Amino acid sequence: MSTTSTVSASTIDVVFGSAPGKVILFGEHAVVFGQTAIASTIDRGIRVAVTHRAGATDGPVLKSMNAMLPGRSRPDPDGEGPERLREALALLRSLCGDRVRSLSFSVDGAIPAGAGLGSSAALAVALVRGVHEFFDEHIDDAALIERAFAVERVFHGNPSGVDHTTIVSGGVIAYRRDLGSGAATATPVRLARRVPLVVGVAGPHAGTKNAVTALRDRARRHQAHYDHLYAGIGALADAAKGHLERGELAAVGELMDLNQGYLNALGVSTPAIEVLCATARERGALGAKLSGAGGGGAVIALVDDGPDAQGAIVRAFAAAGYAAFATELPASDPSVTNSSRPTSQTTKDPS
Ligand code: PMV
Repeated sequence: MSTTSTVSASTIDVVFGSAPGKVILFGEHAVVFGQTAIASTIDRGIRVAVTHRAGATDGPVLKSMNAMLPGRSRPDPDGEGPERLREALALLRSLCGDRVRSLSFSVDGAIPAGAGLGSSAALAVALVRGVHEFFDEHIDDAALIERAFAVERVFHGNPSGVDHTTIVSGGVIAYRRDLGSGAATATPVRLARRVPLVVGVAGPHAGTKNAVTALRDRARRHQAHYDHLYAGIGALADAAKGHLERGELAAVGELMDLNQGYLNALGVSTPAIEVLCATARERGALGAKLSGAGGGGAVIALVDDGPDAQGAIVRAFAAAGYAAFATELPASDPSVTNSSRPTSQTTKDPS
């Protein structure tokens, strides 16, 4: 998806800021505790139209938010309603200056909100991009990450940073945040071959902030055991990077199944997620796991390159009553897709 574009007419100026959604292939939750995660952008996302309200000083305002899936149009999966969004817009004004008070945003999304597909981070990135595009200014990736992270914090409290770093970088990255310094490292993962996926949505989740807080509370009672689980997940992510770079998709799938076992042990899976994982494996998926915070939300299935392999799983998910779509990881060879590629970068946690 292109990041920005402009449409001008005699009476209206509309500028668009957009951002893709993301999936987490390995390492959600453990990444909050300093372990590696592997995440990737997907080929659908969010677009924010920015317009100017002549003479207005009370903004910025959100004019419309088109549903990202039937029945779900909330931008804040933690269920705190428009209050959080107002807070995010006020923060945007303090980050980008008083000039944004006359701006109005309309949001269109092709990813479900509250499903672990990065809708709130994509919204944060698209808003910041849209503002800078409106004022015809360049913003570099490090500044974009910092600003989007601040906005994302309004929705998610204390996110690891994996969502918006992936969304700004584009492509597949290995992400890790040092807990001591807060410095984050994003390293590109160079795919050796096409990596087809199917995404199924096991319903809305209860919110990333809620899931992370509840897990932290459960872990306190058995901290050493939970730390072993986080370390195990981190080891899977580190190993999976090599398998992805060598094109060993069968091994990647096996590690995804293991990662899902760990996530179940952490208590963030649900019966619907387990049904989707089992359905995908029965239909030939190489591996399947939840993606994101869990407690609902997205399941990703890694699919072999066979004819109609993705279609069979999409149909099986739909037959079981779940929304689903086929996608693939952005190719490392830019001539294969037009996704932007990440460069290795380190960002400092702004907190
Ligand atoms: O917001 P989600 O559902 O994409 O989850 C983000 C991943 C977590 O590891 C659960 C939280 C985080 O901040 O990394």
